[in-house]
Amino acid sequence: MTETRYVTTPIYYVNDKPHVGHAYTSVAADVLARWWRLQGHEVFFLTGTDEHGQKVEKAARDAGMDPQAFTDRVSQHFRDLTGTLGLSNDDFIRTTESRHKAACSALWEELAKRDEIYLGHYEGWYAVRDEAFYGPDELTERDGVKYAPSGAPVEWVREPSYFFRLSKWQNWLLDYYNTKVEFIAPESRRNEVISFVKSGLQDLSISRTSFRWGVPVPGEPSHVMYVWLDALTNYITAAGYPDTMAERWKFWPASVHLVGKDIVRFHAIYWPAFLKAAGLEPPKRVFAHGWWTIEGQKMSKSLGNVIDPVALVAEYGLDPLRYFLLREVPFGSDGDFSRKALANRLNGELADALGNLANRTLSLIQRNCEGKLPAEATISPADEGLFNLLISLQATVGGELSDQKFHVALETIFRVVRAANVYITEQAPWALKKTDPVRMAAVLRHLHTVLRRVATMLQPFMPTTMNALLDQLGVPKDARDIMALRTPLPAGTTLPPPSPLFRKIEIEAA
Ligand code: MSP
Repeated sequence: MTETRYVTTPIYYVNDKPHVGHAYTSVAADVLARWWRLQGHEVFFLTGTDEHGQKVEKAARDAGMDPQAFTDRVSQHFRDLTGTLGLSNDDFIRTTESRHKAACSALWEELAKRDEIYLGHYEGWYAVRDEAFYGPDELTERDGVKYAPSGAPVEWVREPSYFFRLSKWQNWLLDYYNTKVEFIAPESRRNEVISFVKSGLQDLSISRTSFRWGVPVPGEPSHVMYVWLDALTNYITAAGYPDTMAERWKFWPASVHLVGKDIVRFHAIYWPAFLKAAGLEPPKRVFAHGWWTIEGQKMSKSLGNVIDPVALVAEYGLDPLRYFLLREVPFGSDGDFSRKALANRLNGELADALGNLANRTLSLIQRNCEGKLPAEATISPADEGLFNLLISLQATVGGELSDQKFHVALETIFRVVRAANVYITEQAPWALKKTDPVRMAAVLRHLHTVLRRVATMLQPFMPTTMNALLDQLGVPKDARDIMALRTPLPAGTTLPPPSPLFRKIEIEAA
């Protein structure tokens, strides 16, 4: 049965150009979307840009531009990046679009109708950089300036404001976290959220009157909606909200929102509470990944070490970058980006292990079998070790990806690649041509079977290169999903001459 799956990235602020942190979440979401499609699921993958609020308004002012013209320009960089990263997103949402403003108004009206909103006065600390309110006990002070835990300076804000009755949802949220243990991952973030909610939730200020760049509050145009209420709503806007008869509404609730660790609070506390209060279902899961440092340092404009993903793709190629981002660091932990680490992964795992295995196998088939795929052969005791690794490989990798353990899934697949390299060395098919051509053909066919399996399963991670490998393996375009693996390729299939899949990087130059 076809199942629906819905994955999202955060919508990115358009105050600045995209960096490698943005590329990270986007690539991870793309891998999930592609993996699910390979399983035959019906998938909706959403990304986009977050364009309202004080932070973006200020960035536009600093650039001497009208906010709409400014957001048009920067949003386009993010849209271009989806192409550069080979993302297979089904939609790209901008919060300045009319469909989104309509969804925000509808959600607001629903909350108001249910008496979840009231007018009051906000007085407290606000960090424009995080677009977040903080309690006094969360702040630290240096040189007379108060800072949020994120390091962003806060300012005292006092203005009329609408409030959302968040405090009322405290017990419901705690209950929800308890019954749906998979809702927040990884575990460390789940604990952090639970202890924050346990410490007591205040009602949340959800409108501002001190600036204009936002979605106007219905019937109260002097107020604009709090940018996080506006931003979070994007996930249902794109699914058709408020039209719950829309074709895409079947995708809601989302399977998983992928976010960075800094924005878990918004996704795992405010968002399910807003939705529940409006009579809508909360998302099934929020996964918070860690942050990248660059060569050991925090990535920041002032340090001048912000990494442009477009430059990385140009330098190393897209697929090696995608592989590196998801292989190097456990998803959920912080990690360090270094060119040396990237070059090591690229050279050792992609070029040497996988690239060479493919090249050796396919060159031998070219040379010794006239470029024709040998027939399937029985599995002899010498082949069993390798084939045992294929049993339940898909289910294992599928389970790891359902847990967003991208690095483990890659390790599981590369265990097979390494075993196949040991196998080719031990079986030495090049030496069998004269002595035992039947066995040579069997070994090459077995290696082809393993390569096809590996290439099929790696497509979500490295779509272009794995498609090239599947071309070289003679696998028809319509036989590249998981189901198709059940049907062996016919003996005698003509294989094109192989060409190298990966280019090695000089470590010194890295
Ligand atoms: N606009 C909000 C999200 C709204 S979602 C309804 C936002 N935007 S952001 O552009 O500032 O950040 C987007 C994502 O980039 C966040 O998930 C954040 O964690 C991530 N990253 C920012 N710097 C990062 C690193 N150095 N490393 C990894 N991810 C990083 O927040």
